[in-house]
Amino acid sequence: MAQEDIFKKLVAHCKEYGFVFQSSEIYDGLGAVYDYGQMGVELKNNIKKYWWDSMVLLHENVVGLDSAIFMHPTIWKASGHVDAFNDPLIDNKDSKKRYRADVLIEDQLGKFEEKMNKEVAKAKKRFGDAFDEQQFRETNPRVLANKQKYDELHARFAKALNDSNLEELKQIIIDQEIVCPISGSRNWTDVRQFNLMFSTEMGSTADGASKIFLRPETAQGIFVNYLNVQKTGRMKIPFGIAQIGKAFRNEIVARQFIFRMREFEQMEMQFFVRPGTELDWFNKWKDTRIAWHRALGFGDENYRFHEHEKLAHYANAAVDVEYKFPFGFKEVEGIHSRTDFDLSQHEEYSGKKIRYFDPELNESYVPYVVETSIGVDRMFLQVVAASYCEEQLEKDSRVVLKLPAPLAPIKLAVLPLVKKDGLPEKAREIIDSLKFDFNCQYDEKDSIGKRYRRQDAIGTPFCVTVDHQSAEDNTVTIRYRDTMKQERVAISDLGNIIGGQVNFKGLFGKLN
Ligand code: GAP
Repeated sequence: MAQEDIFKKLVAHCKEYGFVFQSSEIYDGLGAVYDYGQMGVELKNNIKKYWWDSMVLLHENVVGLDSAIFMHPTIWKASGHVDAFNDPLIDNKDSKKRYRADVLIEDQLGKFEEKMNKEVAKAKKRFGDAFDEQQFRETNPRVLANKQKYDELHARFAKALNDSNLEELKQIIIDQEIVCPISGSRNWTDVRQFNLMFSTEMGSTADGASKIFLRPETAQGIFVNYLNVQKTGRMKIPFGIAQIGKAFRNEIVARQFIFRMREFEQMEMQFFVRPGTELDWFNKWKDTRIAWHRALGFGDENYRFHEHEKLAHYANAAVDVEYKFPFGFKEVEGIHSRTDFDLSQHEEYSGKKIRYFDPELNESYVPYVVETSIGVDRMFLQVVAASYCEEQLEKDSRVVLKLPAPLAPIKLAVLPLVKKDGLPEKAREIIDSLKFDFNCQYDEKDSIGKRYRRQDAIGTPFCVTVDHQSAEDNTVTIRYRDTMKQERVAISDLGNIIGGQVNFKGLFGKLN
């Protein structure tokens, strides 16, 4: 099945089973804003728990914070967002559609990559085990021709971005003969910058309302609380502050479902270090974060690091963790070495000293910062995309979300075989004994087969069927989602069997 079709199915599945709804749907929706339904909110909370506990519980020197969305407007001047938080936009005059110029060029780079990968895949099929991929990539003329085109475009693009040269970005789009996917034409406007921050007014006009911004990243809330946390928590450098919260960006090109939204959630951690040690910490956090992703078991080959073409105004090193979505490798997380830029700017704009006295060096300095920043919604999409499977069975087929068990919205479904003979009561008893440990669901409607399919579709790792034997000997049939194997077990063993699989400890064990 084409990747595009898989993606459409994913979106439909998310709606059908209560994971994600279009915001304000009964009013025809609001662009690039989404709501999480009854299953979605559970999955999202579990993703956040996986991140939060891995940061705050597993690192003695990382503590949490929950700062307000509204902040003093000068913060955004100091951080550079008022002047520099822009996207380069271009319009197609025929379709009247607006695009990010950098994304159009990145897609073009992706096409060269795709061509190279196709050649490699064909050759791999032809030569089988004897295939030497590295040698093929270094010698095959078609791969080399595409590699040259890729490298030339990449170098030109990186230079244009670094110079903020908007004319050159347009020229690249023209020279590469990039067409609008809607109109198919090359009738482009000039490229211009567009600020992504939403603003609103605080206070009544009579009092003199002031313009404030909805935060475009949670990080600034951490920076402006650096001193509060360091002092009250008696934190010693190196230490980190972690935060989960909403962020807002007026994304012009909002596509691909919850991949790019106007209201979204971030999980960010700022790690404050001694100047000069930041690149070591940057590399350590790169390793830590990729291990966190890989522990979910979605296949190491589906992740890669992407070095930034253009460093943000605050960074001296930056890398993205990319995951292979159905629409290609795309960023899920950014890891940035932000230098002392933010704290120094806040020192200057607030007039307050934001320093750390280092007892080992016997001197004060503005700490350097390494940041890890991941979007909850993008992570959600990654988890659902990686878990979605359509399986052909002997007699029929099933759609199953093979979610890592600790992330599953419902851990256990308890199903009485029939709605009589005391079986519903027995099922309720089981739920009552386990509901403080796991999210359980009771379901008595339809045949057992249909009930299994419903649970497969929402990713429930365990189904327990209560039958007439259960009343006699206190045993049930447990059915495992991925293998569909069933076995008879004692009701008293359920807690241990399920607990062993759904506990976050298993995931955390893979991180060390
Ligand atoms: N504090 C640094 C920062 O905000 P970023 O690369 O702009 O860096 C970090 O964003 C992460 O936030 C991204 O890797 C992505 O997962 C998520 N993100 C950014 N913009 C988003 C959007 N419009 N919709 C959903 N997630 C977004």
